[in-house]
Amino acid sequence: MLREWVLYLTAPAPLAFRRLGYVRESVSLYSRSRRCHTAWRPHLEATRAAIREAMAGLSRRRTVVVLGSGLLDDIPLATLAESFAQVRLVDAVHLWPARRAAGRYRNVERVARDLGGSAALLLRGETDLHDAVTPLCSGPDVDLVISANLLSQVPILPLDWYDERGWPEPPDLGRRLVSAHLDALGQTKARVCLVTDTVEIELDREDRETDRLDLMHGVALPPPDRCWDWDLAPFGESSADRRLVHRVQAYTDWHRALRRQASQGPGKEKAVSRDGDGF
Ligand SMILES: C[S@@+](CC[C@H](N)C(=O)[O-])C[C@H]1O[C@@H](n2cnc3c(N)ncnc32)[C@H](O)[C@@H]1O
Repeated sequence: MLREWVLYLTAPAPLAFRRLGYVRESVSLYSRSRRCHTAWRPHLEATRAAIREAMAGLSRRRTVVVLGSGLLDDIPLATLAESFAQVRLVDAVHLWPARRAAGRYRNVERVARDLGGSAALLLRGETDLHDAVTPLCSGPDVDLVISANLLSQVPILPLDWYDERGWPEPPDLGRRLVSAHLDALGQTKARVCLVTDTVEIELDREDRETDRLDLMHGVALPPPDRCWDWDLAPFGESSADRRLVHRVQAYTDWHRALRRQASQGPGKEKAVSRDGDGF
């Protein structure tokens, strides 16, 4: 607990990000990831494997941009730093452990950004989302963009912001945030590796499904290259007799997935979870 407080109080983050809850969330992620270390290991390893696979066929390795780098738990940082001339880590918050890890490499830079582009909408009542992703990823030297377990998280704090205040949320905000991130990735010239959890499933002790939540807010994704279950909250973590599993989809080349989807023709695409079944 003391460690969490120290991390919270000493996190170097813009005041706006603190107000919006990103520091609190990052510390909470830090604690949960340490508590659930064993349960999360397969998911973290699968994410790192997808990133390595995405790197494999690249002819040039100048700059790699990691969106949602956060704690760096699912990022093969040493491999990226050895393979690319420049590594750009982007997240609303990098706590001290991640800053120390990044600081070991001279070619690794950290960038603090609201990647959902909703800060001005929440704090100043603006109506449009700001595209923070394109300027970070569109440089001529960017050869790989990695969106690392970020996408499902982007709507959470903006939606909480309205919920906690009892304010009506702007229509379709969750869907707009998810779509905006995917659109920005789609416009990137570099190869894009996208890893995201798409569905939350609540299970009881008999392994019966008791609830299900679409983390993509209705946005359908093309069939993934890989999918797996992330044992997000084993029994005892958020409830004694319920556990939470997240279905994760990984795209080692997002542009290829979009091309495949387009070649199937309209109406054939559908949301896909594990084993390719729609939800
Ligand atoms: C599930 S974590 C994954 C983090 C990271 N890949 C890791 O291994 O620890 C999601 C990350 O998304 C970041 N995040 C959520 N919303 C964000 C936003 N609007 N802008 C920037 N980062 C955001 C959080 O700070 C967190 O680090």
